[in-house]
Amino acid sequence: MPSFEPPRELLTEHFELCIPCSEDAPALYAAYTSNSEAASYLQRAPHKSAEETLRFIENWGEDSWRVHGRRAWIIRRRSSGTILGLFLLIRIGTAAQIHFGISPESWGHGVMREVGRGVLDWIARCSTFDRVETYCDCENTRALRVLEKIGLERQSLLPQHIVLPHFGGQRRDCWSYAWTRRDVTPL
Ligand SMILES: CC(C)(COP(=O)(O)OP(=O)(O)OC[C@H]1O[C@@H](n2cnc3c(N)ncnc32)[C@H](O)[C@@H]1OP(=O)(O)O)[C@@H](O)C(=O)NCCC(=O)NCCS
Repeated sequence: MPSFEPPRELLTEHFELCIPCSEDAPALYAAYTSNSEAASYLQRAPHKSAEETLRFIENWGEDSWRVHGRRAWIIRRRSSGTILGLFLLIRIGTAAQIHFGISPESWGHGVMREVGRGVLDWIARCSTFDRVETYCDCENTRALRVLEKIGLERQSLLPQHIVLPHFGGQRRDCWSYAWTRRDVTPL
């Protein structure tokens, strides 16, 4: 029966999304959360230690959906078990806000297109969410293209919407993106 609660695990052809546990902290830190290039357009700085990633996992782990309406999945390659990055879903009323990122060495091979389509497919087919939304720095062209490839549409300019540590705490313009259930299926 459709619900708002995201699955604990979600499989696509090549990738597995699952709730992070404390044992994942060192690999997630090494692959993604410590990487300064991957954090350029994120509202957080790169993590300085695996302990910082462990604290993130504690905040976004097992109980996070029940307590805060937030789900973090780590993205693993199914063939090797390698951790590539994170996909976040935050419930805001009947909408799902999404955020994502992976390690730069995996950029440009269709990873996030496949993973994002998997999440959008679950939302469209199996959930009661009526909207998916996010915002993205106007200069983050890779992410803007991915959002369109997974079925979201550009909505409006959000001037000076986020503060990015990588740009010295400068306020940055974003585009807002959304998919709504009245749209055709995102795939
Ligand atoms: C944004 C981000 C997630 C993109 O992920 P990605 O996996 O590199 O994206 P994809 O590979 O799916 O798409 C990128 C390109 O790979 C190409 N590609 C290469 N091989 C491919 C394949 N086998 N299948 C599909 N696409 C492929 C795509 O055509 C695409 O190019 P195009 O956009 O010019 O058409 C990644 O750059 C990232 O983690 N950035 C840091 C975090 C971040 O900024 N997050 C967004 C915050 S809003």
